[in-house]
Amino acid sequence: MHLFSAMFLLVMLAAMSSEAIYPSPEEGWQIYSSAQDADGKCICTVVAPAQNMCNRDPRSRQLRQLMEKVQNITQSMELLDLRTNRDLQYVRNTESLMKAVDVKLKTASDNPRSLNPRSLQELKDKVTQLLPLLPVLEQYKTDARQISRVREEVRNLSLVLMAIQEEMGAYDYEELRHRVLLLETRLHSCMQKLGCGKLTGVSNPITIRASGSRFGSWMTDTMIPSSDNRVWSMDGYFKGRRVLEYRTLNDFMKGQNFVQHLLPHPWAGTGHVVYNGSLYYNKYQSNIIIKYHFRSRSVLVQRSLSGAGYNNTFPYSWGGSSDIDLMADENGLWAVYTTIPNAGNIVISRLEPQSLEVLQTWDTGFPKRSAGESFMICSTLYVTNSHLAGAKIYFAYYTNSSSYEYTDIPFHNQYSHISMMDYNPRERVLYTWNNGHQVLYNVTLFQVIKTAGD
Ligand SMILES: *[C@@H]1O[C@H](CO)[C@@H](O)[C@H](O)[C@H]1NC(C)=O
Ligand SMILES: *[C@@H]1O[C@H](CO)[C@@H](O)[C@H](O)[C@H]1NC(C)=O
Ligand SMILES: *[C@@H]1O[C@H](CO)[C@@H](O)[C@H](O)[C@H]1NC(C)=O
Ligand SMILES: *[C@@H]1O[C@H](CO)[C@@H](O)[C@H](O)[C@H]1NC(C)=O
Ligand SMILES: *[C@@H]1O[C@H](CO)[C@@H](O)[C@H](O)[C@H]1NC(C)=O
Ligand SMILES: *[C@@H]1O[C@H](CO)[C@@H](O)[C@H](O)[C@H]1NC(C)=O
Repeated sequence: MHLFSAMFLLVMLAAMSSEAIYPSPEEGWQIYSSAQDADGKCICTVVAPAQNMCNRDPRSRQLRQLMEKVQNITQSMELLDLRTNRDLQYVRNTESLMKAVDVKLKTASDNPRSLNPRSLQELKDKVTQLLPLLPVLEQYKTDARQISRVREEVRNLSLVLMAIQEEMGAYDYEELRHRVLLLETRLHSCMQKLGCGKLTGVSNPITIRASGSRFGSWMTDTMIPSSDNRVWSMDGYFKGRRVLEYRTLNDFMKGQNFVQHLLPHPWAGTGHVVYNGSLYYNKYQSNIIIKYHFRSRSVLVQRSLSGAGYNNTFPYSWGGSSDIDLMADENGLWAVYTTIPNAGNIVISRLEPQSLEVLQTWDTGFPKRSAGESFMICSTLYVTNSHLAGAKIYFAYYTNSSSYEYTDIPFHNQYSHISMMDYNPRERVLYTWNNGHQVLYNVTLFQVIKTAGD
């Protein structure tokens, strides 16, 4: 009798001092101990469930967010690390090539009669050409080391945060917050440094799936950073409205776990792109670009791309109303198209992603109807010379210097009809739709890494 009323009192007191923690029965309040004091009054110790109290602490909520952020950064770092390793492989290959040339040169120098003067000079020239690579190689190595250090730090921080969640208040919270911010900054500059370069190779096609019709488009989100793994697929080029959204690449491969978006306006061509959770596409029989937001399932903005040809007037070589090709690279959103004043030559415009306003435009001088496809890497447009077997990357336009050059970068066109080719800067791969097959290619970029202070 005494015991019960005392317990009731204590519970009431707890509820008054902090209304936020009034427990429900299932939260497991317990009598920890009970005893009688010298006056015969009952003393109870009631233990509140610690975990539930913490859940209501705003500090713990912030900590959970921080943990999530650290987790996100860790993911990005891992991706970055993967890319760096791939580039290092390229550098190593160049390195061994250089060594081989060097050895040959030494042998020749030691034994001049084994070599005629002309080939000796050729060798010397080759080595001279390779020499500027040396400091670049050193930079690669330094950067890779730096990345693994940052990654370790992020891992350490994750551990600390995990510990602090178990033992609230045992650590300087502000200090932790500061460290996370610092990491974010470092990660950002790291990605900026390692992000860009000149395309030197397109290799290792992997057929992910064979689905849909001959022509179509598929993609993942192109914004950096993003941990969005969804895959979108848009079958056909003519008047389509159905976009399939898969949870992951694995689901796309198996054709499972997808939802459908029915666009309010039909599309033309295959030049669609997903950037920051929105689909940008060309509205059927118009030069209007539509920004459709997946989460709210609504059109956020639409705007006419002034003067742009449409309705199969200036398509790529394969036709299919591929007049307007939208794409994103490390530096944002782009539209590739042409106009009558530009005489059918490819024009590149940089677009503002919120308003779709044209920020700047370049005339490449390359006839659009002679191009198989095109894609943008690091503000450079790469153009293929055909959509059929034997196609290669034939032309590059550098928006940074408004100049172009002819290139000769082969790639394996396994199924002989490419109706879509787009670069994903986050994953550093090319997405292609090849005769009803969805194919990924690796790209190799040759990077000149900037040092701090550049
Ligand atoms: C972490 O990534 C997820 C998935 O993209 C996102 O929903 C969440 O807001 C991110 N969290 C933080 C704290 O950045
Ligand atoms: C991470 O933690 C380990 C073990 O406590 C420590 O040796 C290492 O120096 C830490 N690394 C960084 C980058 O802080
Ligand atoms: C433009 O970009 C290309 C490729 O990324 C690079 O090789 C070239 O040096 C850049 N030119 C200028 C003027 O920055
Ligand atoms: C991405 O979208 C969000 C809203 O969904 C917006 O706040 C943010 O500014 C966008 N970022 C970029 C780089 O467009
Ligand atoms: C588009 O092209 C088709 C076939 O050539 C034609 O019938 C139609 O009138 C054109 N529509 C517009 C809006 O130009
Ligand atoms: C292509 O990229 C994947 C994933 O990064 C890697 O596993 C594979 O070895 C790469 N292939 C080539 C030829 O670089």
